[in-house]
Amino acid sequence: MSTQTVFRITLKDGIDGIQAFNEPIPKAGQYEVLIKIRSVALNYRDIAIANSTYPLPTKDQVIPTSDMAGEILEVGEHVDGFSVGDWVIPPVTADYLYGPFKEGVDAYGSVADGMLREYVVLPAHILVKVPKSNINFNQWASVVGTGSTIWNAYYGNTPLKPGDTILLQGTGGVSITGLVVAKAAGAKTIITSSSDEKLEYAKSLGADYTINYKTHPDWAAEVLRITDGRGVDHVIENGGLGTVEQSLECVKESGIISLIGFLSNEGKSQPDMLMPALIKAVMLRGIRAGSKQQLEELVRFIGKHNLSMPVDKTFGYHREDIVAAFKYVAAGKHIGKVCISLN
Ligand SMILES: NC(=O)c1ccc[n+]([C@@H]2O[C@H](COP(=O)([O-])OP(=O)(O)OC[C@H]3O[C@@H](n4cnc5c(N)ncnc54)[C@H](OP(=O)(O)O)[C@@H]3O)[C@@H](O)[C@H]2O)c1
Repeated sequence: MSTQTVFRITLKDGIDGIQAFNEPIPKAGQYEVLIKIRSVALNYRDIAIANSTYPLPTKDQVIPTSDMAGEILEVGEHVDGFSVGDWVIPPVTADYLYGPFKEGVDAYGSVADGMLREYVVLPAHILVKVPKSNINFNQWASVVGTGSTIWNAYYGNTPLKPGDTILLQGTGGVSITGLVVAKAAGAKTIITSSSDEKLEYAKSLGADYTINYKTHPDWAAEVLRITDGRGVDHVIENGGLGTVEQSLECVKESGIISLIGFLSNEGKSQPDMLMPALIKAVMLRGIRAGSKQQLEELVRFIGKHNLSMPVDKTFGYHREDIVAAFKYVAAGKHIGKVCISLN
């Protein structure tokens, strides 16, 4: 077999602009490996790119998505440390491997072709090997973008400490990954959602406190009540402009707000963040998806604690299934991660 089915997107057509193409299966170069992709995990980023609301550069006709887990089929002659049959995941961008964040030019699924394809050739030096354990390909694909982002938030600057209280906004991929990792790290968690049903599920994953942000639009007051007025040590800020004011209200003095998402930005203007942050000496830290090194640290942590990322639903590798998967995430029906499984 020399060809594969690849999906590309015509951005002006939104999610319906995802179309199948028949393209050659590439060959691995001397320092590269050929990977059979076994699962692709979706992120809100993929929806934002498809809907042209993503704040960073994109390329028309790009192969969407960044997060995959796969199996090595072929190893270039100068590759060390990888063998045929190894399970691997890549970071979100090929040129952010370690150290402080720097903008990459190679982010998969936005400017560089991503992972909605059956086979991909990648440079061996960017890959993270993952153990063949009870964690399946869907769960490994699910740790790439959201997992490295959460790891960066918790350990990229001021490390999370056991006993810290973390506020997680919503029950999407970032939040649920943040919940699973925070629990294993010994932190207390408060999670919000628009749905009581989703909050019940979050409790089953170990959430210590839950708040429905629809029935409690002043959720920051609830957070302060739960923490006896002290506030939380760390906020995983997924909402953006629509939530950050309340985050500043309920973070403790010298606490951290990790600025990760922009889910509630539409139609909102910038609130006054300067004086509340200054008065409470709060750290507002912009977070981008973690480096290869941070992904490796997370994979070790997952192995040590035998964690797996909750996958809400898995879709098939056909155009109509893929479009349905993107629309499912766009509608916010999911809890945690949504994957596309390839045989
Ligand atoms: N900076 C980075 O490098 C980076 C990396 C990863 C993700 N992100 C960003 O982080 C955000 C979350 O990503 P994701 O992949 O986890 O998204 P997701 O899985 O699509 O999460 C969507 C969920 O967020 C919750 N939500 C929506 N609006 C909310 C609001 N106003 N307040 C609280 N929760 C709200 C909803 O949960 P309920 O249904 O429970 O209400 C919704 O189902 C996105 O903006 C994404 O682009 C950024």
